[in-house]
Amino acid sequence: MECRQNIIVVKLVIKDPADGLGISLKPRAAEHEKVVIEEVIRGGPADQTGMVQPGDTILAVNGQDIEYQYQEATKVIRDIEPGKPVELVLRGPKWFHTYLETVRLSTGETKTVRVTRPNGPIGALTLLIQRVRGNTFGRRAIPKHDIQGDISLQKTFTRQNDVIRTAANGIVANGCQVAVSKAATCMVVPTSTSRPVRLRNWLKEGTMHDTLSVKGNCVNPCNDGRCLGSLMRPRPFTAPGYFRPKEEVLEQAKKFIFEYFASLKSSDAAERDRRWRDVQIQVKEKGVYHLTIDELVYGAKMAWRNSSRCIGRIQWSKLQVFDARDVRTAREMFAAICRHIKWSTNGGNIRSAITVFPPRTDGRHDYKVWNGQFLKYAAYQLPDGSILGDPINLEFTEVCQALGWKGEGTLFDLLPMVLSANGEDPEWFDLPRDIVMEVNITHPKYDWFEELDIKWYCLPVVSNMLFDCGGLEFSAAPFSGWYMGTEVGRDLCDENRLNITETVGKRMGLDIARNSSLWKDAVLVQVNIAILHSFQSNNVTIIDHHTASENFIKHLKNEQRLRGGCPSDWVWIVPPMSASLAEVFHQEMANYHVRPSFEYQEDAWLVHLWRKKPKQSVLLNYAYDENPKRKYRLKEVALAVKFAAVLMKKALNKRVKTTILYATETGKSESFASSTLGIFKHAFDAKMMCMDEYDITNLEKEELVIVVTSTFGNGDPPDNGEEFGQALLHMKHPPGKMKPDSVRRVSSISRASYRRQQKLLRQLRDGGALGSVRYTVFALGSSAYLENYCAFGHAIDTLFESLGAERIQPVGEGDELCRQEESFRAWVKGAFKSACERFDVGHDVDMEDVKAALLGNDFSWAPGKFRIVQTKGLPETDILEGLSKLHRRKVVCSTVISKTQLQAPESSRQTCLVQLETHGAQELKYVPGDHVAVFPANEDRLVQAILDRVEKGANPDAVIQIEALQEKKSGAGFIKTWTPQDRLPTCSLRTALSRYLDVTTPPSPQLLLFLAMHAASSRERAELEALGKGGLRYEDWKFEAAPTLPEVLQHYPSLQVPPALLLSQLPVLQQRYYSISSSPHMYPGQIHATVAVVKYRTRGGQGPEHSGVCSNWLNTIKTNESVPCYIRTAKNFHLPENSSLPVLMVGSGTGIAPLRSFWQQRQVDIKAGTTSRHPPGDMTLVFGCRQSRVDHIYKEETAQARRDGALTDLYTALSREPGTNKTYVQDILRERIPGKVLDLVLKDGGHIYVCGDVTMATDVGETVQRILREHGGMSVARAEDFINNMKDSNRYHEDIFGVFPKTREAQGAVRKGTLRTSGRTSGVQVRAAPFWQHYSCLS
Ligand SMILES: Cc1cc2nc3c(=O)[nH]c(=O)nc-3n(C[C@H](O)[C@H](O)[C@H](O)COP(=O)(O)OP(=O)(O)OC[C@H]3O[C@@H](n4cnc5c(N)ncnc54)[C@H](O)[C@@H]3O)c2cc1C
Ligand SMILES: NC(=O)c1ccc[n+]([C@@H]2O[C@H](COP(=O)([O-])OP(=O)(O)OC[C@H]3O[C@@H](n4cnc5c(N)ncnc54)[C@H](OP(=O)(O)O)[C@@H]3O)[C@@H](O)[C@H]2O)c1
Ligand SMILES: Cc1cc2nc3c(=O)[nH]c(=O)nc-3n(C[C@H](O)[C@H](O)[C@H](O)COP(=O)(O)O)c2cc1C
Repeated sequence: MECRQNIIVVKLVIKDPADGLGISLKPRAAEHEKVVIEEVIRGGPADQTGMVQPGDTILAVNGQDIEYQYQEATKVIRDIEPGKPVELVLRGPKWFHTYLETVRLSTGETKTVRVTRPNGPIGALTLLIQRVRGNTFGRRAIPKHDIQGDISLQKTFTRQNDVIRTAANGIVANGCQVAVSKAATCMVVPTSTSRPVRLRNWLKEGTMHDTLSVKGNCVNPCNDGRCLGSLMRPRPFTAPGYFRPKEEVLEQAKKFIFEYFASLKSSDAAERDRRWRDVQIQVKEKGVYHLTIDELVYGAKMAWRNSSRCIGRIQWSKLQVFDARDVRTAREMFAAICRHIKWSTNGGNIRSAITVFPPRTDGRHDYKVWNGQFLKYAAYQLPDGSILGDPINLEFTEVCQALGWKGEGTLFDLLPMVLSANGEDPEWFDLPRDIVMEVNITHPKYDWFEELDIKWYCLPVVSNMLFDCGGLEFSAAPFSGWYMGTEVGRDLCDENRLNITETVGKRMGLDIARNSSLWKDAVLVQVNIAILHSFQSNNVTIIDHHTASENFIKHLKNEQRLRGGCPSDWVWIVPPMSASLAEVFHQEMANYHVRPSFEYQEDAWLVHLWRKKPKQSVLLNYAYDENPKRKYRLKEVALAVKFAAVLMKKALNKRVKTTILYATETGKSESFASSTLGIFKHAFDAKMMCMDEYDITNLEKEELVIVVTSTFGNGDPPDNGEEFGQALLHMKHPPGKMKPDSVRRVSSISRASYRRQQKLLRQLRDGGALGSVRYTVFALGSSAYLENYCAFGHAIDTLFESLGAERIQPVGEGDELCRQEESFRAWVKGAFKSACERFDVGHDVDMEDVKAALLGNDFSWAPGKFRIVQTKGLPETDILEGLSKLHRRKVVCSTVISKTQLQAPESSRQTCLVQLETHGAQELKYVPGDHVAVFPANEDRLVQAILDRVEKGANPDAVIQIEALQEKKSGAGFIKTWTPQDRLPTCSLRTALSRYLDVTTPPSPQLLLFLAMHAASSRERAELEALGKGGLRYEDWKFEAAPTLPEVLQHYPSLQVPPALLLSQLPVLQQRYYSISSSPHMYPGQIHATVAVVKYRTRGGQGPEHSGVCSNWLNTIKTNESVPCYIRTAKNFHLPENSSLPVLMVGSGTGIAPLRSFWQQRQVDIKAGTTSRHPPGDMTLVFGCRQSRVDHIYKEETAQARRDGALTDLYTALSREPGTNKTYVQDILRERIPGKVLDLVLKDGGHIYVCGDVTMATDVGETVQRILREHGGMSVARAEDFINNMKDSNRYHEDIFGVFPKTREAQGAVRKGTLRTSGRTSGVQVRAAPFWQHYSCLS
């Protein structure tokens, strides 16, 4: 250091990686503004020199002159390497004289300090004004710097307690603010926190200097020579209704935001400043601001870290933060609390957590948990004056009773949760017993201990403290860790608690008459042993005080290293027994207050501002007039609470949040979900959403979730349920933590294998993220899929359960082959009933209304409810745009290049190779194995047949829109208005019937009922109504005749259909998937599809011919016409990345489609030489068809692929070849290549691909299992597990097209028998005998 006139050179500053130099500069006001220090951050590098002050001008940094170069200054300072020394040339503030002076310390050493004093009357005045204004210098406060321990100033100063007399006026000596007084007496204000505190460990003889305390505030009211460190609540409570003024919020917010950004590894000053500006704007507008989730998490962890009374803080960074700032009602608070308890309890493996409810806004809308802890035992005053239960809770128990709660009157009655939300009057809730874990206290040696019949709860959750963070006050932020044994020991032994000391002393045979026998101490030790033993033997986390003490000492050292200290309240940290045996006893501690923090609050019932004025005068209570001066008797409070609570309960009960989630491929689940919504709306606050629109992070906060979903593929989720299913799976198995052999496919957790599922359940049931959620599932499926029947619905059900959610009604199954609608109705009625019972709501619901809702919802048909209006001048929406909107995904255009018939001309069936041009569309990029989704058009013939039957007067080609008459709330009450519906894109009736609506799927029972309303003939109406009831009659009709809408109209000639009915009620025409049959590298810009043209006759071949919509449309579409489509990634059906692994491909009939893309890709790779370094593995094709000359499609191409070396082996199974035995693909596997299959599966890590109809795929799967059994020596269960594992690890791939006609017919035969004999409503088992045996008797 050197000194010139008012100029000092500071060489000691070392740039800190986190804090920089620890200074901030005044923002530049003018172009050539000087570089002036605005703030010196306490404890930062600059501050530690004691030589740098706000108001100093920086003249140079490391020899570089920057006095008038603001930009340059910031850059130079920013560019200094952390850890490197920095030399600052500073000029002291104007009107002051700054110089260095050497002072002598009391130790005899000397030290040089900076002195800044007024150099004339203006300076003196400035200093005086600063002091009056609260020590500000210019705009900023001058920090109260430290006088370095025991420094006394040589000559100039003489110290008398806190007063230094000096000849000089107003001095700031090395940071020690010296005020000017007339008598030339300077008050030195070294607060207790203004200098580092030296702390000694008297056991280990170590010392540390707590520098963090410099930042802290005095924590207790110690002054005038009194130490009040043992006061329970040292700081006063904030008054009810108080809220922080904006200035205070801002001051604390700034500190917090800056600290938060400094804590980030990659701290970005620009981002921090942006955020700070944003906070300022919010506070200016609303008085408060919104903490980001990261800030909240940081703040909550820091509050724990700063809790000077907590011994368990070594865990501070592992706090789980539940953000419940979006709750609005007491019921929602309760749901969040249940979740907290479940998550933290974690089956005994306790986890620390905090749940943060909305912050205080104006002091009148606070959220409060009235309980001191979540779990507490009630106390009852008995007639003889004694108390049953835990006496500490007597007052709160009375409050609960007055609210209407009734305890059972036992020693351990759990008190209910009493919650008030948004300043409303409180509501109570009983905790579900199954989420509360308790431990019976037994002793490892004293068997009689058990007879005392004592238990204690496992989870200590402090719930009445205020979380003070960044200027915001969270009046409800319950937090929990795990117990230290002595805490429970005191709960049991303290005289004002359960007070079992004497009882135990007697049972131990101790001399309880004499204190000096130390019987109480002996009891306490044994009770503590019992507690630790009981918790540990029940696998519940608990810590003994010795380990806690050791951990805390470690924590102190960590904190000393990391942030210069740790606020600690010795009085609380030292355990209440065997104190001196714990190291913490011997450790000096500094107690101070640092924010973020947890603060005590007055008991909620003493300060609550009642909303509803109690009617009886006796009920007038503490604070109805918002001025809680007058104190009322507790009974009065309680009665008032009870009164208000009844009203509140009624209102809140109606608003249980219910989320109905659906996933669907063909729209049925959506329509069932919609009916569910219509019903649940009667008693719940219900909303409906597709799974792919749902933000899974909200799931934990849900109260009631209802899932309606189908299953697709072979046990897989529908496309729009895939992500949701995966997210659920990841909730239990975070990605990266999965064992290599663990489950990856959601469907693996279905009921596919009960044994497997149970094992999984056990693995999964290790927590309860959905602990507060109640749920039920309706699963749609087809029993044709045998063991994968409704698999995804079951998977969701299993996952919810394993995540701790409570099932309110068993999973419902809706079989598309049999009475799906009926099963749904039965299930939904049951679900509604159990939900009402579970939530104790719906007492006033008229069940007739509910039944009516089953038959219709807001969007269902009623005459006069919908109308068509012409949209004059508005053009039709472009088809691609319309489809994209309708299906909520981007649909693009491809055009037909060519079509080739693949079967022999004499074949009775057609299979067509359709080649499409993608026009380079990015959206149509694909890899072999992917699907193309095609949006077809209905046949003109069918569209016209319908148009011929719509009510007269409708112009089929006019652009129209549909409107619904809806009830809306207005100032004048409820009014009905016509509201446009956006169900379909703007188009004509003809376009709607041709491109957007499904007119060929047999009408649902509900649609038949709507049609019945428009039958002129009473006979026809009656018939339609009878069918519309669903049931056997409908099922038979649907299965036998599979009537299209035109056929229904034809059958009921008196029907005249309103166009609005068609537009509002017909299901949406769905896309059809085709497995892409080309490699994009062999045919760039093209997509090939191998399309089996669907044509069949109904009524067992006697009825009219039906043509499949899409396959026939593709078969007849002309070259260059456009085909709306998109690509559907089939990530479970891609070639292995490692091309040297062997591949076995099995496909029959059209199932060869995706396999063509694989061998083409291999041909390209071989040609391009990409496989030369790693020779490709075997690629074997097993193909099945009827006759070699008729339907052996791609015969030439496969032969060429073999010649090219792409296909190593080629087998064909012919099922109807004259003169040969019927052979299927699985026969080839079993009879001809079992060794190959075995090696591929067991030895070579190979992949199997199976494609086609579900029955064939199932049979192939069973055959591979059989090979594993017969040739691999595996048991039945092992072989099944093995294949399932291969599926999970993506080595066994299936591409399922659906149910082919033959499977359908076989089902039909079995179905008939099963239905008639057993009358089952779902879950029909169709595989009574090998499938082809049925076929042979049917064909
Ligand atoms: C992932 C996947 C990939 C696919 N890949 C291909 C492929 O590569 N090639 C291919 O050709 N197909 C494939 N399909 C099938 C394809 O999507 C269509 O289902 C098929 O083309 C029929 O559609 P369509 O519109 O022509 O018939 P639709 O109008 O949908 O009619 C078919 C429906 O008619 C009914 N039906 C059919 N036969 C009978 C009968 N005998 N008696 C009574 N009712 C009957 C059934 O309900 C059947 O679902 C695939 C399907 C999926 C799911
Ligand atoms: N979603 C749909 O509705 C849909 C989709 C695609 C195709 N199709 C229809 O299905 C029909 C034929 O399609 P396709 O050409 O792909 O196949 P396919 O010709 O019916 O069958 C191909 C081969 O598989 C055999 N096979 C039947 N059941 C089997 C089983 N369980 N295991 C193994 N092999 C079995 C057949 O033998 P058999 O001699 O015993 O028949 C035949 O040899 C067409 O009429 C088409 O319209 C419908
Ligand atoms: C290609 C395809 C695969 C299917 N896979 C299954 C399956 O694995 N398990 C099942 O139970 N149902 C399966 N189904 C039947 C559907 O789940 C059933 O048709 C359901 O009613 C469709 O409902 P959604 O319209 O909501 O998708 C499948 C249907 C198709 C077309």
